[in-house]
Amino acid sequence: MQKRESLLEAYLKRGFSRRSFIKGCVTLTSLMGLSMDMVGKVVEAAENTPLPVVIWIHGHECTGCDESFIRSASPLASDLVLTSIALEYDHLLSAACGAPFEAHLDATIQKYYGSYILCVEGAVSTKDNGVYCMSGGHTFTHLLEKAARGAAAIIAEVDYSRIETRYQQGWVSKVSDDLKTCVQWAQEAQKEGKPLAIAYHGNVVDLLHYLINNNIHVDLLSDQTSCHAVYEGGYCPVGISFAERTRLLAEDHEAFKAAVDASLKSHIAAIDELSKRGTYFFDYGNSFLKAVYDAGVKSICKNGENEKDGFVYPSYVEDILGPQLFDYGYGPFRWVCLSGKPEDLDKTDAAAMDCIDPTRRYQDRDNWVWVRDAKKNKMVVGTQARILYQDAMGRLKIALRFNEMVRNGEIGPVMLGRDHHDTGGTDSPFRETSNIKDGSNIMADMATQCFAGNAARGMSLIALHNGGGVGVGKSINGGFGMVLDGSERVDKILSSAMPWDTMGGVARRAWARNENAIETCLAYNRDNEGTDCITIPHLADDALVRETVLNALKD
Ligand SMILES: NC(=O)c1ccc[n+]([C@@H]2O[C@H](COP(=O)([O-])OP(=O)(O)OC[C@H]3O[C@@H](n4cnc5c(N)ncnc54)[C@H](O)[C@@H]3O)[C@@H](O)[C@H]2O)c1
Repeated sequence: MQKRESLLEAYLKRGFSRRSFIKGCVTLTSLMGLSMDMVGKVVEAAENTPLPVVIWIHGHECTGCDESFIRSASPLASDLVLTSIALEYDHLLSAACGAPFEAHLDATIQKYYGSYILCVEGAVSTKDNGVYCMSGGHTFTHLLEKAARGAAAIIAEVDYSRIETRYQQGWVSKVSDDLKTCVQWAQEAQKEGKPLAIAYHGNVVDLLHYLINNNIHVDLLSDQTSCHAVYEGGYCPVGISFAERTRLLAEDHEAFKAAVDASLKSHIAAIDELSKRGTYFFDYGNSFLKAVYDAGVKSICKNGENEKDGFVYPSYVEDILGPQLFDYGYGPFRWVCLSGKPEDLDKTDAAAMDCIDPTRRYQDRDNWVWVRDAKKNKMVVGTQARILYQDAMGRLKIALRFNEMVRNGEIGPVMLGRDHHDTGGTDSPFRETSNIKDGSNIMADMATQCFAGNAARGMSLIALHNGGGVGVGKSINGGFGMVLDGSERVDKILSSAMPWDTMGGVARRAWARNENAIETCLAYNRDNEGTDCITIPHLADDALVRETVLNALKD
C-alpha cells in the first residue's frame, strides 16, 4: 500500500492539466447543487484530501448490477476506480486472488481502521450459517462483520478521578468539560475518518440535551451509569455537581431520590427525542430502562403499563450478545495465574491463542486478536489475570492445555472462573435471559441448575448469589472457580464440568427456539455422540397450534 493520493495528484499523474482539474471542480460544485462561491472549497478539498480508501465486497447479487457498472459510459468504471477512489479490495475487479489477496484485505482493514468506505453489494446469505455464499474459505457474513467495524465515540463521566484513570490507561485520548469543544473534536475526527474516544467531564443528560439543541446527529447511543444501584449513588442527577451529589446522598436521601427520578425523566425524554431523529438507543445491561420505569415513566413499557412484556428499547443482550455470542456459548471465560508472575500470564496467553482457530468464526477471530494484543494494551491492572470470550469446547480446550502446562512445570497453578454475565450461569430478564422469548426468561432455574451441576462435578468453588450486574432482586447467578493443580483428577472434572457450565445455557436458549442455539446444540450432539446429548426442541407450527386451539374453543 502506498501513500494515498489526492484527487489532484491522481489527475496530474494521468496526464490531465491543472486547468482541466479546475474545470472538473466547477462541474462537481454545480452537480452537488452548491453555489459558485463554494468552488474554492471544493478545489481545496480535492487538492488536499487523500482519495477515500474503499473496500468493495459482493454477496449474493444479480450479475446485471455488475454488468451495468462495468459498462457504464459516464463515469467509466476505470475512471471511478483509478481516479476517484483508492480501491484496495474488490471481489469483482481484482486480478489478484488467493491468500495474498485475502491478506491484503486484512492489512487494509488494519491500516485504515475506522477510516475506509465499505461498499457492500448484494444480499447477505445467512441460512445454514451462511454456507451458500463463501469466499476465501469464509462466509460472506464473516467478511462483512470483519470489514464493518470502526467508530468515533464520546463517553460522558461526572467523576473526574475516573476520567484521570481512563486517560492514564489510554482508554480515552481527549478530555474536556466544555461540550462545544467535545463535539468539535468528535466532528473533526469524523471528518478525517479517525477513531477517537473523548471523555466529557459532566452529566450525560447535559450532553444529550446539548446534542439535541444543536441538532447534532448521533448514530448509536447507550448508557452505563450504575443504575443497578440507582438510589445508592450509582446515578448522578443532572443539575448538581458530583460533590453535591455525594453530600445530598449522605444527608438527605429523599431529596436525592427525587433528584434522581427527575433526572431519569429528563434523560429518557432526550433519548426519545434523539431516537425520533434517527439515533439507535439500546440498554447496556445496567438496568437503565428498569430505573426509568421505577421513576414512574410507563411509556417505556411495551404494554404501556408494566415491565412484564419488556421495554420499548432493546437490551443489548436481545440485539447483540444473545444471538451473536450467548446462543453459541461464547462468554467471558477467565483465568488467574496464582504464581503472580507476569511470565506465566504470557505463557497462558500464547497457549490460549494456540487453542483458538481464528478462521472458524468471527467471534474466534476477535478473541484471538484480543488475547494477542492484551499484553501490548496493558490490560493487567492488578492480579495476573485474563478474560477471553470462548464457547464451551473452546473453554475446555484451553483449560485442559493450562492444566497440562501446570503438570509439566511450565507455569504455576491457575484459577479458572467466569463472569456472571454469561451464557449459562445467570437468570436475569433485564439482561442475560432477555433474549429468551418463550416466557421462561423470568425463571430462576438455569443459574440453580448450573450451580448444582458444577458442585456435583467437583468444581473447587461454587456460588449461588443474587443481583449480579443489574441489582439485588433482579437476577440469580450461579458461579464457579476451579483450581488447576496439574492433576489428572482435575482433567476429569474439567471434561465434565466445563461443558455443563456453558451448554446448560445454550440448551435453554435452544428450547426457547433461538436459531443459533439450536445449531450449536445439534453440533454439540454430533461431536459428543455416545457420551452427551442435549434434547432438541420439536418446533411447532405456531399458526397451526393457534388455529387448532381456537377451533377447539369454538366447539
Ligand atoms: N454490559 C456489561 O457488560 C456490563 C459490564 C459491567 C457492568 N455493567 C453494568 O453497567 C453499570 C456500570 O458499571 P461500571 O462497573 O462501569 O460502574 P461504575 O460505577 O464504576 O461506573 C459508572 C460511572 O457512571 C458515572 N455516572 C453516574 N451518573 C452519571 C451521570 N448522570 N452522568 C455521567 N456519568 C455518570 C459514575 O461517576 C461512574 O464513574 C453497572 O450497572 C453494571 O452492572 C454492564
